[in-house]
Amino acid sequence: MWVLRMADSNKIFTAAAGSNIAFIKYWGRRDDALNLPANSSISMTLDSAVSTRTSVAFSRKLDRDRLYINGEEEQLDGSANEKTVFMKRILDHVRSVAKAKEHVLIVSENSFPSSAGMASSASGAAALVTALDAALGMGMDERGKSILTRQISGSACRSVQGGFVKWNRGVEKDGADSYAVQVADERHWPELMDIIAVVDASKKRVSSSEGHSSTPKTSPLYAARPAFAERGVGVVEKALVARDFQTLAEAIMRDSNNMHATMLDTWKPIMYLNDKSREIMYAVEDLNSRKRGYVAAYTFDAGPNAHLITTREHRKEVLGAIDAVSGISRVIESGVGAGPELLGEAEALIDAAGLGPKRPPRKA
Ligand code: PMV
Repeated sequence: MWVLRMADSNKIFTAAAGSNIAFIKYWGRRDDALNLPANSSISMTLDSAVSTRTSVAFSRKLDRDRLYINGEEEQLDGSANEKTVFMKRILDHVRSVAKAKEHVLIVSENSFPSSAGMASSASGAAALVTALDAALGMGMDERGKSILTRQISGSACRSVQGGFVKWNRGVEKDGADSYAVQVADERHWPELMDIIAVVDASKKRVSSSEGHSSTPKTSPLYAARPAFAERGVGVVEKALVARDFQTLAEAIMRDSNNMHATMLDTWKPIMYLNDKSREIMYAVEDLNSRKRGYVAAYTFDAGPNAHLITTREHRKEVLGAIDAVSGISRVIESGVGAGPELLGEAEALIDAAGLGPKRPPRKA
């Protein structure tokens, strides 16, 4: 049970959380409103290279709720994008549970440039829920945080834990059993890493939210996906526990390909991969053939940027293999990250005296 307490007025609470990369993906919902998935999924939490820091302050001095993301003010009134609509919903919810009356200032920044074209909803949602929980003294457990985060962005519910994380599909109608659990912490397999090759930073044509809804409805191939992914989660979980890279790598690549096949089979088709993505897939295939075993696995989310899962031992070879691919604008390297953490006042993004962002916003 949550302990009800008043908002800690004027005090600033700051949390940092890493994004995550799914080894077996969530694609397709069984409930759109609650973000309930058609299948379980499993991921690795990323470290500070791909993370979000969020500060929140509730105060009577504020005349309205304010939100700043990466130096730009965003509207929290439900008129902005889908994610801020969900953030508003979460905010209303926690405020009513904690009986907090004050307005809130939220300032959030990603560790990676927005121009990298990488989704920040997972780390952003996990950092926000962690900071709100602390600010309102709610004492939420991991399950509570994961369920709340899931409603901002499904895949984000896996970012409330560090290391390797499984999001159980659940069977309950209200989603009470659909949340993330840790399979192993970040110390279990610290050699594992994600090399992200950014090939296109532009906004996607179809949002993941639209796809979660349209693929199950229109793709005949999708009928086979939930069972395939559910089996994949079992295979990956065992491979992670045993630190078996050969089994892990094949399962990761096959799941990514399976998901993208159902996307292409959606009507109208969803095509996140581009020629550069495919070139990288071949580069990884060639590297693995040369090494006569898997040393890297590619995986792609709802976009063309490649996530190359490898071990530190093979880092240089993987970087060498993609070096020949032209059009990679940026490479970001991440190890296995810990779960969200609360940071001290010195790391806050809010200026306590002025009750505004420390870094002046680019747009009023
Ligand atoms: O949580 P969303 O709506 O951003 O969905 C993204 C799902 C994938 O990234 C494509 C796969 C996954 O499980 O992370």
